[in-house]
Amino acid sequence: MAAKIIDGKQVAQTMREEIKQEVEKLKKDNIVPGLGVILVGEDPASQSYVRAKEKACEKIGIYSDDNRLPADTKQDELMAPIKRMNNDPKINGILVQLPLPDHINETDVLLAINPDKDVDGFHPMNIGKMVAGEKTFWPCTPHGVIQLLQRSGVKIEGAEVVIVGRSNIVGKPLANMLIQKAPTGNATVTVCHTRTKDLAFHTKRADILVAAAGKPEMITADMVKEGAVVIDVGVNRVEDPSKEKGYRLTGDVDFEAVKEKASLITPVPGGVGPMTITMLLYNTLESAKKAAGKV
Ligand code: GUN
Repeated sequence: MAAKIIDGKQVAQTMREEIKQEVEKLKKDNIVPGLGVILVGEDPASQSYVRAKEKACEKIGIYSDDNRLPADTKQDELMAPIKRMNNDPKINGILVQLPLPDHINETDVLLAINPDKDVDGFHPMNIGKMVAGEKTFWPCTPHGVIQLLQRSGVKIEGAEVVIVGRSNIVGKPLANMLIQKAPTGNATVTVCHTRTKDLAFHTKRADILVAAAGKPEMITADMVKEGAVVIDVGVNRVEDPSKEKGYRLTGDVDFEAVKEKASLITPVPGGVGPMTITMLLYNTLESAKKAAGKV
């Protein structure tokens, strides 16, 4: 039986409406949430993410402070806008787009961000809080995955979840969130990676399979259990001369084949993608509410 498609655009739209209403409520008290974004270099995928973030902020009524720096920016020069925004009361969230150029030390940059404004949830202090199950900013993409599951009526509690990919941005935080003693957790989680011996052995056991490896269409139908929920976090540009841009976007899942086996599946684009920015808007709103003493 063909799977039901999880419409990430629709879920994101619903959540953005909810966030917009809260932003409008805050405006009555003269509070405008603010998000500062720093982009170093000209990576096309990063540029398109950052543009989408700025547009989304504008639509929802969040103030944005955009900082675009050249690829040869020195570490000290990158620290300047971070320090400025750490101390700017108009800014409730600071996001440094990753990956950074190789000559910049990512850990030092993330450590420099005020943890109270770390709406990405990448500061080591916030990662520690997340692992310990304390309230903190949850990283946006894995939080978006959890929202998609919940809002599609998928029971996470007790589920066998298999995550393919162990990145700091998706795989590791998602695994941590899903094992927390909470309604959004209580899952049994396996994390697979490039050194996993028999990947298909694990993926075939999954009630919920999350592909976040960054490898185009690596999850094939024979790797998926009948009736599984399949979440595709991958966004890969694959050369395609028939397209105007010369490439097409594809996920980590062989969508056409796997959709015949899964019960629910996310498409690429239009699945997890729109949720990442939505959760960033959510974290910025929460940060503004906290700064104003409203939570
Ligand atoms: N690069 C890819 N995803 C993300 C994200 O969620 N936050 C940041 N800062 N960089 C990213």
